[in-house]
Amino acid sequence: MTGTPSPSSAKLVIVGQGYVGLPIAIRAVEVGFSVVGIDVDTVRVAALSAGQSFVEDVFSSDLQAALASGRYLPTSDYADAQDFDSAIITVPTPLKESLPDLSFIRAAAVQLAPLLRPGATVVLESTTYPGTTEELLVPLLEGTSLLTAGRDFYVGYSPERIDPGNRRWGLVNTPKVVSGINEDSLRTVEALYARLVDDVVPVSGCKEAELTKLLENTFRHVNVALVNEIAMFARELGVDVWEAIDAASTKPFGYMRFTPGPGVGGHCLPIDPTYLSWQVRRQVHRSFRFVELANDINDHMPDHVVLRITAGLNRCQKAVNGSTVLVLGLAYKPNTSDIRESPALRIVELLTDLGADVQVVDAHVEAHRCPPGVTLVELTEARVHAADAVVIVTDHDDVDYGLLDQPATWVLDTRRRLTAKHVEFL
Ligand SMILES: NC(=O)c1ccc[n+]([C@@H]2O[C@H](COP(=O)([O-])OP(=O)(O)OC[C@H]3O[C@@H](n4cnc5c(N)ncnc54)[C@H](O)[C@@H]3O)[C@@H](O)[C@H]2O)c1
Repeated sequence: MTGTPSPSSAKLVIVGQGYVGLPIAIRAVEVGFSVVGIDVDTVRVAALSAGQSFVEDVFSSDLQAALASGRYLPTSDYADAQDFDSAIITVPTPLKESLPDLSFIRAAAVQLAPLLRPGATVVLESTTYPGTTEELLVPLLEGTSLLTAGRDFYVGYSPERIDPGNRRWGLVNTPKVVSGINEDSLRTVEALYARLVDDVVPVSGCKEAELTKLLENTFRHVNVALVNEIAMFARELGVDVWEAIDAASTKPFGYMRFTPGPGVGGHCLPIDPTYLSWQVRRQVHRSFRFVELANDINDHMPDHVVLRITAGLNRCQKAVNGSTVLVLGLAYKPNTSDIRESPALRIVELLTDLGADVQVVDAHVEAHRCPPGVTLVELTEARVHAADAVVIVTDHDDVDYGLLDQPATWVLDTRRRLTAKHVEFL
């Protein structure tokens, strides 16, 4: 028996049509798969069915082309997945009360299991701790299917490396790490992704693939924390940290550039490393000190930003209470609309608690996604003029930064986007 789907008829199910699942679905349609994109969010499915993409990396025109091909079906009904050849699970893996919440993977597996047929392949892409594929996913799939994983059907793990908003490295040209629970599974998973991306990197087991993703994210989390801490000390020491970073970045080996910022957001840095530290504590009863330290420093950055705003206003003989603070950027990273875990949310909350009138500019974020109390406004010269302080939290490219060229306005630029003399940096 072979699990390799035949290219012309292969039915691929993508469970979860979010930032990870939607780009894969559209790519799979492009290379000839017949794709069923399942999402429990009926509002999201309705928008997709109407050809409206909410993910920056997928243009609505590409989504509309996929729909027009007749080979892309967004749906909330698992029955549409019947007789699938392959399924890729891209559901959320958040934290619940600071612990890994695998309920979304569980729910997806329970729904897919009765639809499994001999020769099918199931791949998990959600970020999670080593062991999830073999210890959680496989038993759930075998449970009601009465088939044996690795023999009757194939299972693997492939970490997603998507970097929303990155125009240079996308799904297709970023090498894809793949794994399987046994040799046959690895072969089918490798064959599946070989059709979707340029380079496939097989590893020997699912745990190694699961750890690969957590290693990559923890590496970034720790290095961001390192420059954040250095930036805070450097300022107190009277040294320009940005100049030092630029100079260090000229070293052609042994150094990788990371820059200070207002804190970390999204899924990858604030949440994923905690999956690993949780597992280390649970299984080997030790603490993963690097992650805990990085969490501590990065979580503290929004407080530091507010402290800097307070100090800046103080120098202008103003209190935060009653001041108007214009916050530029609510999304957690430039040129995206994703506000999950965004440090800007915490900064807005802290400033509001201190009595500031906070106005937020972010043309990428849809108003209905903003939490209560967040008012989105347009960036105008008059607004900049009227503000007591302006803080750049996320430096989207499509902002007219020339409007901040008013030396009378105090500006804190947490991303070092600007160069004007009246602007302060972290
Ligand atoms: N966004 C990123 O940049 C990124 C990068 C790498 C890895 N990841 C990982 O990929 C996974 C998904 O992340 P995302 O950013 O795409 O999340 P997302 O929230 O954008 O999308 C997940 C989708 O899954 C849907 N869903 C939840 N339960 C479901 C179920 N039982 N059946 C069908 N649909 C269901 C949700 O409604 C949602 O639309 C997470 O584990 C995340 O850590 C994300």
